[in-house]
Amino acid sequence: MGAGKVLVLYNYSQHLVKGEPKDILAEHGVIACAHAVAAALREAGYTVEVVAFSTDIEATLAPYPPKEWIVFNLGEGLEGRLFEEARIAWALEAMGYRFTGSPGEAIALSTNKAKAKEALARAGVPTPPWKLLRDPAEVDGWRPDGPLIVKPVSEDASIGIGASSVVTDPHQLRERVAYILNRYRQAALAEKFISGREFNISLWGNEPEILPLAEVDFSAFANPLERIVSFAAKWEPDSFEYKNTPVICPAVVDPELKGRIEEVAKKAWHAIGCRGYARVDMRVDTEGNPYVVEVNCNPDLSPDAGFYRAARAAGYTYTEMVVRILRLAVEGV
Ligand SMILES: Nc1ncnc2c1ncn2[C@@H]1O[C@H](COP(=O)(O)OP(=O)(O)O)[C@@H](O)[C@H]1O
Ligand SMILES: [Mg+2]
Repeated sequence: MGAGKVLVLYNYSQHLVKGEPKDILAEHGVIACAHAVAAALREAGYTVEVVAFSTDIEATLAPYPPKEWIVFNLGEGLEGRLFEEARIAWALEAMGYRFTGSPGEAIALSTNKAKAKEALARAGVPTPPWKLLRDPAEVDGWRPDGPLIVKPVSEDASIGIGASSVVTDPHQLRERVAYILNRYRQAALAEKFISGREFNISLWGNEPEILPLAEVDFSAFANPLERIVSFAAKWEPDSFEYKNTPVICPAVVDPELKGRIEEVAKKAWHAIGCRGYARVDMRVDTEGNPYVVEVNCNPDLSPDAGFYRAARAAGYTYTEMVVRILRLAVEGV
């Protein structure tokens, strides 16, 4: 078996089937990531091919037999359809490849925020109360207590998240639900807005192990309702939001809260069925209760993204991190 041959697989789309034109920025983030991962693997002595696909994953893989190639799976959906991320992993499973990161089932759960929250709640993992809305009319007569954040049910990377996502009255809620249904062609998830600190917890390995916690520093925003990682904060370098949401890693957090956050993060990993590596996003309310807002299977591995920030804080080089993620897929260690 040629254990040294690695196929770095990623999605490339010229256009998106829905959403805002700017959303392509998030989709294209994976290209630089694929090349950084490939360079790291080459540095470590692996034979590497980088392959992009736009629709037909099976045809793309045909020249690379699973007995020779291990797949470093960076596939994040197709043409803006995030739900296809699970299909990519299922195709790899069906064809018998060994591949990095989570299985299709975990990806399918985590990329549908309503299903993910059901699974978390069933497993006793705290997640903010929510309601799935398929029609703006479903807002009528609903009187939530306190502000809400409204998200597309199946997007990631802060797509569809902006200042108008946080709503404080039924009119704003209705408008935002209508926007998500029309622009993103999917249901809207309205969730209790948790005012308080935001942590990203990177996990990997079998048990899993937890890397140093990261916290988003929102101190530039006086209004607590503006303290969110919006699309601008993530993808638009010239925006106020991007320049004013630095991440502190390791986060400064007292041992008791750290313990609570880590316990909840591990439970969330198991509830979703993550494998290899993952990142859990959490908000902590003013009483110190952590809530999982999202579990990211296969989070961004770019050199400037959160997972490597945490791995670096734990003493890993980028190459060491990439090689460990590959070895977890091959040997499980
Ligand atoms: N319940 C919530 N309360 C407060 N802020 C939230 C909540 N849910 C999400 N956010 C904010 O919105 C951002 C994006 O939400 P998230 O669920 O992580 O979606 P994505 O998949 O786009 O990363 C979070 O990083 C956080 O800043
Ligand atoms: Mg998130």
